[in-house]
Amino acid sequence: MLQPYKTPNVEELAALSISRDLSKVFTRRRTIRQFSPEKPNRELIENAVDVARLSPSGANRQPWTFAIIESVELKKEIRVLSEIEEKRFYIEKPNHKWVEDLKHLHTNCDKEFLTQAPYLIVIFYSHFSWKKSEKITHYYAKESAGIATGMLISALHMCGLSTLTYTPKRMQFLSQLLDRPQEERPFMLLGVGKPSSQAMVPTLAKKTLDQVMKIYS
Ligand SMILES: Cc1cc2nc3c(=O)[nH]c(=O)nc-3n(C[C@H](O)[C@H](O)[C@H](O)COP(=O)(O)O)c2cc1C
Repeated sequence: MLQPYKTPNVEELAALSISRDLSKVFTRRRTIRQFSPEKPNRELIENAVDVARLSPSGANRQPWTFAIIESVELKKEIRVLSEIEEKRFYIEKPNHKWVEDLKHLHTNCDKEFLTQAPYLIVIFYSHFSWKKSEKITHYYAKESAGIATGMLISALHMCGLSTLTYTPKRMQFLSQLLDRPQEERPFMLLGVGKPSSQAMVPTLAKKTLDQVMKIYS
């Protein structure tokens, strides 16, 4: 079934102004690694997930689940298991080039933010699901989860919340810990909250618009 659709009506001048403002707003988005203990209202997180769930997805299969973790105990367990992985990554079996490439971020195997952030959101994706006994194929599941995660990060940022995109090399332990069905795979973990008053971020250069945009008119 098809239905008519119209974009929200935005006058061109207003649209230009919004687009310039958005560009300024997103210039201020940074990944933070030190969180304030202040706990934002959970509705902010739920509403951001409500935005993410509207993301486009391959064949509209919506192959995602967003697990919101505020339990202190669960966060502790996630930190312990993550730090086991991180010790492997940084110390026991390091990929020297990768570790070298991360040096400018000043990261190491201590993942204090996992217990410090008031909320963790684990995004799961799946290549299929079940409708009664029928197996439903999901298309471009990872790409779809990536777009939804981008919308989630953007929605959180626009509400004044910061995030840390965290991807331990092996994250299957999150499925067991959060008791997710076998077909779901952890995609990413986001620490979410306000930056601590002591938060520092690495000085990074972003590519310019000219470097990343090619216009074919
Ligand atoms: C897919 C992806 C994985 C990332 N994984 C980690 C991670 O495991 N640990 C971490 O500290 N930062 C991680 N980051 C954050 C990046 O280091 C950060 O986005 C990048 O340095 C640019 O900084 P900015 O977000 O402040 O612009 C990840 C970001 C992305 C997009």
